[in-house]
Amino acid sequence: MTSQPRERVVTLIRGDGIGPEVTDAVLAILDAAGAPLDFEDAVVGRKAEEEEGDPLPARVIESIRRNRVALKAPVGTPIGKGFSSVNVRLRQTLELFANLRPVKTVPGIPARYTGVDLVVIRENTEDLYSGLEHVVVPGVVESLKIITEVASTRIARFAFEYAKREGRRRITAVHKANIMKLSDGLFLDCFRRVAAGYPEIAADDRIVDAACMRLVLNPDIFDVLLLENLYGDIVSDLAAGLVGGLGLVPGANLGREAAVFEAVHGTAPDIAGTGQANPTALLLSAVLMLRHIDLPTYAETIERALLATFAAGIRTPDVGGTATTSEFAKEVARRLT
Ligand code: NAI
Repeated sequence: MTSQPRERVVTLIRGDGIGPEVTDAVLAILDAAGAPLDFEDAVVGRKAEEEEGDPLPARVIESIRRNRVALKAPVGTPIGKGFSSVNVRLRQTLELFANLRPVKTVPGIPARYTGVDLVVIRENTEDLYSGLEHVVVPGVVESLKIITEVASTRIARFAFEYAKREGRRRITAVHKANIMKLSDGLFLDCFRRVAAGYPEIAADDRIVDAACMRLVLNPDIFDVLLLENLYGDIVSDLAAGLVGGLGLVPGANLGREAAVFEAVHGTAPDIAGTGQANPTALLLSAVLMLRHIDLPTYAETIERALLATFAAGIRTPDVGGTATTSEFAKEVARRLT
């Protein structure tokens, strides 16, 4: 007799823009798969600011700390004014220091390359995202880029441990240490020091601009990429473009006390409410979450159903199809076995 796994409580952030649409699609698939999950809704962003005076209420942080895991759809950040990014605050407050973004060719999806299999690992807590900006004199502003030995060593160690566990062969640190000799220089030094303890994994480095060109010309030469926060943000989107776009690429924000799973993409205001959003990126983030909470069987079942859906030619418009978000979700759910 097989025993039913205990139900796991997960904090759920439905987000803004396409967030609620892709969340509904993913929840429908998780439900159809019978995944033993119970969701605790948490509201952040503009609505939370209006209702509670804070776009990231303490209640939400408490919920994630208690459950240790969250599934999160994208949350909008006002550009050039307004509240500071909920996404950045969440990562910093919960010390979700590692942002893991596997970028893999999806069979059945038209893309420029085949056989892409990269992992982008982004330091998630410092760099130019420290939020330290001020006006020096009118017309002159300063944004501080913070790089510390502690955080750089911690993310490098995470990357090598990940590579070891997952059988990855090479880690490339991406930087601009030729110009930012102190900050990126420190990041690179920490990487090299940690690399020395993992002789079985190849370690090299590239300057960020040249790395971007190489990624576009020949992504095959890369395996795991390790980047500071800003370069990691930019290169993640670039890497998503290699396999068919932002609608496909999942992500995990990992720390010692909690993990928040979310897609690489944002709220996609240009298509919000039109039923065109691709739920794959959030669905694959949920698949990463299921593995993280030790429910790998459900992860595999969902992945198989997703691939079977693509193999049947069913796709959302961003990847050349005509299915709506909910039609796509129904087709995936129908293929769960
Ligand atoms: P975006 O990622 O929302 O959109 C970029 C392009 O990709 C758009 O053309 C969009 O339609 C398309 N796209 C993105 N996800 C898609 C999906 N699932 N299916 C089909 N097409 C998809 O980036 P953008 O426009 O720069 O940012 C919009 C908002 O999202 C901003 O307020 C930004 O701050 C926020 N954002 C939030 C993130 C998070 O919560 N982690 C991450 C990135 C951006």
